[in-house]
Amino acid sequence: MTSAPFAPTVETNPAARTDAEREAILASPGFGNHFTDHMFLAEWTPEQGWHDARVVPYGPLQLDPATAVLHYAQEIFEGLKAYAWADGSVRVFRAEENAARLQRSAHRLALPELPQDWFLGSVDALVAADRAWVPEGGETSLYLRPFMFASEAFLGVRPSQHVTYCVIASPAGAYFPGGVKPVSIWLSTQYSRAGAGGTGAAKCGGNYAASLLPQQEAAQHGCQQVAFLDSTEQRWIEELGGMNLYFVQSDGSIVTPELSGSILEGITRESILTIARDLGHDVVERRVSIDEWREGTADGTITEVFACGTAAVVTPVGVLKWDGGEAVAGDGEAGKITMDVRSALVDLQYGRAEDRHGWMRRI
Ligand code: PLP
Ligand code: COI
Repeated sequence: MTSAPFAPTVETNPAARTDAEREAILASPGFGNHFTDHMFLAEWTPEQGWHDARVVPYGPLQLDPATAVLHYAQEIFEGLKAYAWADGSVRVFRAEENAARLQRSAHRLALPELPQDWFLGSVDALVAADRAWVPEGGETSLYLRPFMFASEAFLGVRPSQHVTYCVIASPAGAYFPGGVKPVSIWLSTQYSRAGAGGTGAAKCGGNYAASLLPQQEAAQHGCQQVAFLDSTEQRWIEELGGMNLYFVQSDGSIVTPELSGSILEGITRESILTIARDLGHDVVERRVSIDEWREGTADGTITEVFACGTAAVVTPVGVLKWDGGEAVAGDGEAGKITMDVRSALVDLQYGRAEDRHGWMRRI
């Protein structure tokens, strides 16, 4: 069934926060704590395709206890940011890539694909309704969280015949409190995030549920993030719970684990392939073993390690720990190449550098 043309209705929130309330939140937003005054919703059924696009006041969703997502986790999501530029415009970074990834995730989770114009239109409509919530100054942004879930009330295990798509927005400062400081990483040897043929490359809630216990284990060992290896050989580095990884080598080249089918295809990761090449580095996608991480940091072949993602931007990795040992790249502080890549990325996102690749969509 083809979907209706994208033409959302807009219902203004009569209980919107006052200017003073909003300003107080924007002064120190943190990450994921506060939500704007509106949200976007649309529905899908086999008969009607995508329909009923609407911007409505932000608020609770009422779900029947038998709603399929609550039982079988048929759910996918995205994450992207809108930035306030000095010229007064608001831009989103590579939203077309998020639209495409949501379609790939939908395919894997047997959910209906959302047309690209609906995805971009939903982002535009919500940001336009909540323009006042896009923070200005520093490294702040409006984090957008589009998600889609099985909303049919039915306990049989089959793809849902009613699906809801929603976008919420949250003003965001740094993901890691403390700003750009190296993070510590725990190597998960007991648990995997995803397996061959599984859902690792899809951005589905279940992957994150599977990462929470190892994330707790990381915290017990004093680490902020957890690194996962491939589930078959427990040898090849995949990624962190919510970020991809990069390794800077002593010859200035940069390596990132190749896409294995169980790694999330990060848009920041993909952008850094280009940005680092623009900065003159050789960039290689290949398998990286955990021994290479340990030995390379010990013998100086690996000089810097960093993590990247929409929420985390580019974050230096200080130490990797495991039962009985640890590996520190360089002096454990943020490396020069890491910070150069980071600056090139954020300068582009905030309009301080030329958008050579046409990545910033004006809303
Ligand atoms: N890997 C995982 C598991 C993630 O959740 C994320 C965050 O979205 C990333 C990598 C980075 O992806 P992106 O750069 O598209 O935000
Ligand atoms: C993002 O970077 O958008 C994510 O989804 C990662 C999550 C840890 C917040």
